[in-house]
Amino acid sequence: MKKNVVIGVTGGIAAYKALDVVSGLRKQEIETHVILTQNASEFVTPLSFEALSNNEVVTDTFKRTKSWEVEHIALAKKADLFLVAPATANIIGKVAHGIADDMLTTTIMAARCPIVFAPAMNTAMYENIIVQENITFLKSKGYHFIEPDNGFLACGDRGKGKLAKPEDIIEVVLNLLKKSHDLEGKHILVTAGPTIEAIDPMRYITNHSSGKMGYAIAEEAAQRGATVKLISGPTTLQCPWGVERIDVGSALQMYEAVFKCFDWTYAVIKAAAVADYRPEIVSSSKIKKTGEDIQLKLTRNPDILQSLGRQKGNKVLVYTIKTLIL
Ligand SMILES: Cc1cc2nc3c(=O)[nH]c(=O)nc-3n(C[C@H](O)[C@H](O)[C@H](O)COP(=O)(O)O)c2cc1C
Repeated sequence: MKKNVVIGVTGGIAAYKALDVVSGLRKQEIETHVILTQNASEFVTPLSFEALSNNEVVTDTFKRTKSWEVEHIALAKKADLFLVAPATANIIGKVAHGIADDMLTTTIMAARCPIVFAPAMNTAMYENIIVQENITFLKSKGYHFIEPDNGFLACGDRGKGKLAKPEDIIEVVLNLLKKSHDLEGKHILVTAGPTIEAIDPMRYITNHSSGKMGYAIAEEAAQRGATVKLISGPTTLQCPWGVERIDVGSALQMYEAVFKCFDWTYAVIKAAAVADYRPEIVSSSKIKKTGEDIQLKLTRNPDILQSLGRQKGNKVLVYTIKTLIL
């Protein structure tokens, strides 16, 4: 069955390049549906896009369609992927702030498919801290971005902000569409990050795990359709879009959290760096400095992997080997 890509075109000088994207996708047997913002139609005509996509171009949220359906919801449901190219600073800001005040933003808001922005703007606009913060925020929520190129810009400046080449945009779209939903309906539990083992209320023992591997695995599994729970030690990472995060501190808490979810899971992927040992006694008050040396006795933490192995039955158990680069 043909895949459907909805393409939002916004009001930038590079809007005409979206014609090549539409044409290139159609050559790949992709059904394309174009939404122009009101401002984009100052740069390009709906007619060109209609001719290339062979579908009606939409700009007006309130236009009555022939078969009565709410157009923005119908398009959002139809989309296997949503591409915004070129994406203005304005559309990025609007989506980042939940604004849905025209056909494009309203349809994006209703879409459940992957959403890809290909920004294009003057370098100063692109580097503006607010635009960058909006991009970082959207990325953290699972939106994809195709970096603009460096080069000579229409405004006469030279720098970053040129729309990525249509062939590169098409490649990203095709790759994302290829991602199968082979994990649809599967429950996957991922562990990530370090654990922290308390010495007293102020101090703890931990390790240098960043959690990046587990978070990347969780994100990939969610993108492939799995329902994902991520049991995470303390990290500075944003929870991937569509993933439920369960925060833990110590190895004992991680052990408890893993076994609470164990019946629910199809597969457990262990990417956390769980401490093998913890202080045998956790002081209830801050240990005071004295003139003497002190000794900290460590006791074994339960081996989560071994316990899982014993009870695994038909479940898939994956243990990631971490390489330490010194
Ligand atoms: C000639 C011209 C070129 C423009 N080019 C860009 C651009 O490349 N990128 C951008 O973010 N805004 C550009 N703008 C500003 C946008 O058109 C403006 O922010 C507008 O509100 C965008 O609306 P839209 O995002 O709803 O399409 C340009 C404006 C003009 C007049």
